[in-house]
Amino acid sequence: MIVTVTMNPAIDKTVEIDALQPGGLNRIRKVEYDAGGKGINVSKTIRELGGESVATGFLGGNAGKTIENVLNEKGIRNDFIWVDGETRTNTKVFEVNGAVTELNEPGPVISEEKLEEFLSRLEGYADQDTLFILAGSIPSGVKKDVYADIIRRVHKKGAKVLLDADGEVFRISLEANPDIIKPNRVELEEYAGIDYRASTEELLELAHGLMERGIETVAVSMGRSGAMLIRPGYEVKCPALSVKAHSTVGAGDAMVAALAYSWDRQLDNDETVRLCMAASAGAVTTIGTKPPTREVVEELKKQVIIERIGA
Ligand SMILES: Nc1ncnc2c1ncn2[C@@H]1O[C@H](COP(=O)(O)OP(=O)(O)OP(=O)(O)O)[C@@H](O)[C@H]1O
Ligand SMILES: [Mg+2]
Repeated sequence: MIVTVTMNPAIDKTVEIDALQPGGLNRIRKVEYDAGGKGINVSKTIRELGGESVATGFLGGNAGKTIENVLNEKGIRNDFIWVDGETRTNTKVFEVNGAVTELNEPGPVISEEKLEEFLSRLEGYADQDTLFILAGSIPSGVKKDVYADIIRRVHKKGAKVLLDADGEVFRISLEANPDIIKPNRVELEEYAGIDYRASTEELLELAHGLMERGIETVAVSMGRSGAMLIRPGYEVKCPALSVKAHSTVGAGDAMVAALAYSWDRQLDNDETVRLCMAASAGAVTTIGTKPPTREVVEELKKQVIIERIGA
């Protein structure tokens, strides 16, 4: 079973206007709402791929209800902890000239009691057939080591963890040895204190360093330069697929979804890589974080070229 964790979900509100007039009246031409947050995006892509997951985290207020409704409509199981306050609505204002203005709400503050309730709920899902996806930002009131705490707790019950975080949270969480990680190139370079563009060899070396500590799979996404998948005895690199790009936001989340789906279905290494490349490229062809359809992913899989590197 796959459990996606979104501790700080959001309604993603997209607004289209001609030209933003600060301090004036702005008439909206088109508005769209979707449930967002990295873990939720991963659940949506898993659903499109034909898999199942349980989405969890914290929800509050009317915005929280809206997210729950969206997930139910999409047939995504969900089991959120309800908190006081209002789940965030993050607004992106698109102007005709291409400018994008973002207005992000802070989201609810999580109390210690609610956090403890959440952690025990997660432990309830943990067994050797469970993969937890820890992705995205951490809400106010919660310490940065919460992912590390979750990893240690669910590991005790034999569960696995896929981590997708950056900066300090990434660094602290790595100390608890997640099983699968998917940093993008910049996240990995920052972690290693490298302030230039690392070569494939250097990225491979960094991945080896992480694996020595107990991380089993390192997927390094490199945007339009493709990706690397590194596992014991299996080290490959794939050029990105050639697609018409609409929005690269969420491409990494689609790759995380493909990694999780592959783990759940016990797909072999080559098939895992094909799915990762196709799902992430498919996500680039859609608007915003909308997941690609299974048909699009199947078609794109034919384009994948797997190059062996290292071992
Ligand atoms: N322009 C592109 N064309 C084709 N594939 C792309 C392109 N950009 C990204 N991808 C695919 O998506 C994968 C993930 O992209 P990227 O490295 O940008 O992830 P990310 O930075 O974690 O993204 P996010 O966190 O916004 O979802 C890449 O490894 C690649 O397979
Ligand atoms: Mg990412």
